[in-house]
Amino acid sequence: MHRLVCECPPLDVNSLYVYLLLSEHFSQTCIVSEDEHGLRAMVSAYVPPQCPEVLFVWQVAVAQRARGAGLAQRLIRALLTRAELQGIKYIETTVAPSNLASRRMFAGLARSLETHWGEQAHFDASLFGTSGHEAEPLLRIGPFDAHCVSNARCDEY
Ligand SMILES: CC(C)(COP(=O)(O)OP(=O)(O)OC[C@H]1O[C@@H](n2cnc3c(N)ncnc32)[C@H](O)[C@@H]1OP(=O)(O)O)[C@@H](O)C(=O)NCCC(=O)NCCS
Repeated sequence: MHRLVCECPPLDVNSLYVYLLLSEHFSQTCIVSEDEHGLRAMVSAYVPPQCPEVLFVWQVAVAQRARGAGLAQRLIRALLTRAELQGIKYIETTVAPSNLASRRMFAGLARSLETHWGEQAHFDASLFGTSGHEAEPLLRIGPFDAHCVSNARCDEY
């Protein structure tokens, strides 16, 4: 996961230890996809402790060789079919304004879940210090229900 994220700018690369923790403690809310060349995609996510109806999507990475086929959206929908996540009614994430591929992917996800998406200011650019990091507005998709999740195609990923 760490290597894949390194290969997928503009994602922030976290320490190797973070990806070990995700695998160890958050595997119910994370998902990967492999092909004959190895890991081709991953989604890391968690349920915020105070928001049991929200799945917060942290990082989404699809290797260049696997892009353009809607894989990221399929992986998130596959997560939503898990028994442990049947109470989820909203997806939240933060996406920099310039990341058009990510924005379109989340807009498409909202369409496939037959629901709305909205955006509001969240992490201002000043919070990232002098790194030059863009602001990270919050995108919120939902509410959606189990019917829309199961209607969405997520059998192959
Ligand atoms: C964002 C990302 C995960 C999407 O991967 P994917 O599942 O292969 O997505 P697709 O290529 O099927 O494209 C999804 C949508 O974005 C559009 N898109 C793809 N690349 C684009 C680009 N460079 N500029 C603008 N739109 C783009 C597609 O046309 C599609 O739109 P549509 O559904 O309206 O037709 C992938 O591009 C990636 O890993 N990017 C680098 C890391 C990143 O930015 N992650 C997201 C941060 S949370």
